[in-house]
Amino acid sequence: MNDAVERFARDFEPGTVLFEEGEPGDYMYVIQSGEVEIRRQVGEVERVLAILPPGDFFGEMAILNGRPRSATAVVKTAARLLVIEGKTFEAMMRARPEIALRIIKSLATRLENSNQHIELLLLPTSNHRVVQCLRLMADEQIALAGAHVAHGSAILVPKRIEDVATRVGVPTHEVIEVMDRLRSARLVLMPEDAGIEGDGFIVPEVGRLLEFLEFLNLKDRFGA
Ligand code: CMP
Repeated sequence: MNDAVERFARDFEPGTVLFEEGEPGDYMYVIQSGEVEIRRQVGEVERVLAILPPGDFFGEMAILNGRPRSATAVVKTAARLLVIEGKTFEAMMRARPEIALRIIKSLATRLENSNQHIELLLLPTSNHRVVQCLRLMADEQIALAGAHVAHGSAILVPKRIEDVATRVGVPTHEVIEVMDRLRSARLVLMPEDAGIEGDGFIVPEVGRLLEFLEFLNLKDRFGA
C-alpha cells in the first residue's frame, strides 16, 4: 500500500460501533479488509440493511448531504478501514473525477438494490419473498458468470441463509422453513444433495422458480 493511503488506515476489532444512526458525521470509510454491517432501527427492531465487503465504502451520505448518519455501522469481522475526513473526501472527488465516478456508480447500484428490496418487501408472504430473492440471487450469479453459463444449467449461489434473511427481512428460522419446502420440491438443492462441498445453495432451473412464484401469486389471488 502506498504511504499516502497508509496514513488513513486503521484496524478495528469485530463489534466496534463506528458510528450510530442520528449522529452528525464527519468521516467516510473505505473497507480494505473485513466486513462492516450497516444497521437501522425500525420501530423496536434493529434491521441489517447491508453487509459491506472489502472494496466498498460507507459514511459518505452524511458528508454529501449534511444530514445526520442514516444508519449505524458496526465492524462485523476484524477490519482495516481507510478513515477519511469529509473535507479530504470532497477534495479527492474534486481532484480525481474517476473517484467521483466510482462513488456515483456505487450509489446507483445501492439505489437499484434498495428498489429491489422495496419490491421484495411488498410481496405478501415469506414464501413469495424467499422465492423471489433466490431467483434474483441466481440471476446475479448468471450475470457475474457472463457467457459461461449455458441456458438452463444449474446455478450455484454462494450465499448463506442469513444473507437471504437479511435481504428479504424475514427471520432466519422462517427462511429455513421455506428453503426446506423448496428443497423437498427439488426447486433448490443444498451442495451435499449434488455431492459437492461448500457453502450456498443450488438452483437447478431458474425457470422453475419463476413458475413456482407465478403459482404462489395465483394461489394468493384465488385462495386455492
Ligand atoms: P451515512 O448516512 O453517512 O451513515 C450511514 C451509512 O450507511 C450511509 O452514510 C451509507 O454509506 C450507508 N448506507 C445507508 N443505507 C445503506 C444501504 N441501503 N445499503 C448500503 N449502505 C447503506
